[in-house]
Amino acid sequence: MEMSHRSDEFVSIATQAEQDLRDLLNIPSNYKVLFLQGGASQQFAQIPLNLLPENGSADYIDTGIWSQKAIEEASRYGHVNVAATAKPYDYFAIPGQNEWNLSKDAAYVHYAPNETIGGLEFQWIPETGDVPLLADMSSDILSRPVDISRFGMIYAGAQKNIGPSGIVVNIIREDLLGKARALCPTMLDYKVAADNGSMYNTPPTLAWYLSGLVFQWLKEQGGVEAIAKLNDVKQRTLYDFIDASGLYSNPINKSDRSWMNVPFRLADDRLDKPFLAGADARGLLNLKGHRSVGGMRASIYNAVDITAVNALVAYMAEFEKEHG
Ligand SMILES: Cc1ncc(COP(=O)(O)O)c(C=O)c1O
Repeated sequence: MEMSHRSDEFVSIATQAEQDLRDLLNIPSNYKVLFLQGGASQQFAQIPLNLLPENGSADYIDTGIWSQKAIEEASRYGHVNVAATAKPYDYFAIPGQNEWNLSKDAAYVHYAPNETIGGLEFQWIPETGDVPLLADMSSDILSRPVDISRFGMIYAGAQKNIGPSGIVVNIIREDLLGKARALCPTMLDYKVAADNGSMYNTPPTLAWYLSGLVFQWLKEQGGVEAIAKLNDVKQRTLYDFIDASGLYSNPINKSDRSWMNVPFRLADDRLDKPFLAGADARGLLNLKGHRSVGGMRASIYNAVDITAVNALVAYMAEFEKEHG
């Protein structure tokens, strides 16, 4: 924490972290990797400030709370066309691309591949032709392999699968740099960040260092392909149990279910409190769903291993026996 960000020691930590992330995601050489601040929420403004011309228009896909926040913020800076929304499906299913109303002259298309709160995840990458595709991968980056070349930019707040909060990683195709509006703050200009190796000002060095350790850990696990296999077993274990149970349910369309965030409800919400109390007593923590949707949510990020998922399922079965 005392190291200068200009010191050889820190520069080598930063360079290694970037290289490890490049290796993990097979990031092509025409993409820059930026380590920024302000979380994913700041990207909601930074994106239009950099990529939405004053009189231009951008397409956004609404699949839940995080896509809506991005839409709301971008609307402050220019015209936003909501090209598709999951609203008619009560946010339990993702509209197929044949239902989308994309515009040919959009500056970009923005979507959230995994809606962390609703538990809705794309199992496919939208096709947007020459229009750059931007993805908020805050809660699913590094959970499975992804073809970076399909995207104009990917960004992710660190605090799920990368490292501690305080950092956001952007993977941006080089031709999208240098387009910021005149009024865009210097600190928010992607090109300034890229030209300065993400060190235009003092970066969050400790968060960057710890993110690098997570990248090394992930490499030791066999990389993204290997963790994806484990994640698949985890999600199947949990969904299969929920689907077979009479007490618990998950409302999401089976082909749109999130691998990382599994929301579920108990048949009688008066059982929520005793369920959570019993879970806490067993060290199964943070299962309460987001306040906006209620119920329960098991977030099973890369750091949660299968033994934790098995322990949760064993507890859920035991609770169902008693209360079901
Ligand atoms: C998909 C998604 N986007 C954006 C955010 C906001 O991230 P931050 O708190 O880093 O601004 C979150 C946080 O949970 C998220 O899950």
